Amino acid sequence: MDLDAFTAALPKVELHLHLEGTLEPELKLDLARRNGVDIGQSTVEEVRATYRFDSLASFLAVYYPAMDVLVTRADFRDLAMAYFRKAAEQNVRHAEVFFDPQVHVARGVAFEDVVLGYHDAVEQARRELGLSAGLILCLVRDLPVESAEEVVEQMLGFGEQIVGIGLDSDERGHPPAKFAHLFARARAAGFKVTVHCDIDQEDTLEHLRQALEDIAVDRVDHGTNVVEDPRLLALLQERGTGLTCCPISNSFVTDDSKAPVIADLLRRGVKVTVNSDDPAYFGGYVTENLITLTRAADLGPDELIQLQRNAIDISWAPADVKEEFL
Ligand code: ADE
Ligand code: ZN
Repeated sequence: MDLDAFTAALPKVELHLHLEGTLEPELKLDLARRNGVDIGQSTVEEVRATYRFDSLASFLAVYYPAMDVLVTRADFRDLAMAYFRKAAEQNVRHAEVFFDPQVHVARGVAFEDVVLGYHDAVEQARRELGLSAGLILCLVRDLPVESAEEVVEQMLGFGEQIVGIGLDSDERGHPPAKFAHLFARARAAGFKVTVHCDIDQEDTLEHLRQALEDIAVDRVDHGTNVVEDPRLLALLQERGTGLTCCPISNSFVTDDSKAPVIADLLRRGVKVTVNSDDPAYFGGYVTENLITLTRAADLGPDELIQLQRNAIDISWAPADVKEEFL
């Protein structure tokens, strides 16, 4: 079996995926029609023509307006189910997926329609696809902190549906410390904590320091800049804190997949994992991300297996799902 076929067949775990980033152009157009929302394009080609990104900010400027097509509980379910079907085709057995409720609530959508719509899909995926999934509420760091406080307050009533809290969006001027009180609140209520430290952003190392030292996150999303600071790297290794890396997304955000750094960290025993981030926009789900890394950094089958072992290890999956995977 060649290595691409091996990669495709490998049972996988996905830990860094934004559900709103799985909105493929076809579904975007269907939902726009269903809800009478004018998105400014009417064909798949026109939609794809707007996907020109060379930075996190230029991506986010396309990503957020597209969310207007998501209106009802059924829309959120349909979006997540479309992703879970795709994931199951790629042999993903467990997925922990982000969503951005502040953006939806700001448009007048009820918080519970977002959470329950996504949760409907989690249940359906378990029944129909044998895929286990967890929802991670992501705080949008460049929206007013009061709106983050509101969704955290609401999240506390949804402990059955939501497994953890994250932090995403534009890092400039929005360090993790700004949300420390909310992470503490969520953790005290039993939620896991993860924070995006996107690669090569302004103040990335200080953001990483805050995430690791001040907030003591359970894992870091992206975070490969840790190689630049031996003290932070030692802390990460000592605690076994995992990194959720996304090679194809890296290429769009910084013009560099960071494959050698990811492979180097893997070979040094850091719990790195490979994931998709926003596959509908960046053009690659988890298998394509693994293949990209494998080709660029010359990984072998044992290393591909190790990436999946790392992922199930640092996942927040229930014990029975972990045992079955390993
Ligand atoms: N939201 C969706 N994708 C993101 C990314 N790659 N970085 C930060 N925020 C995001
Ligand atoms: Zn992300």
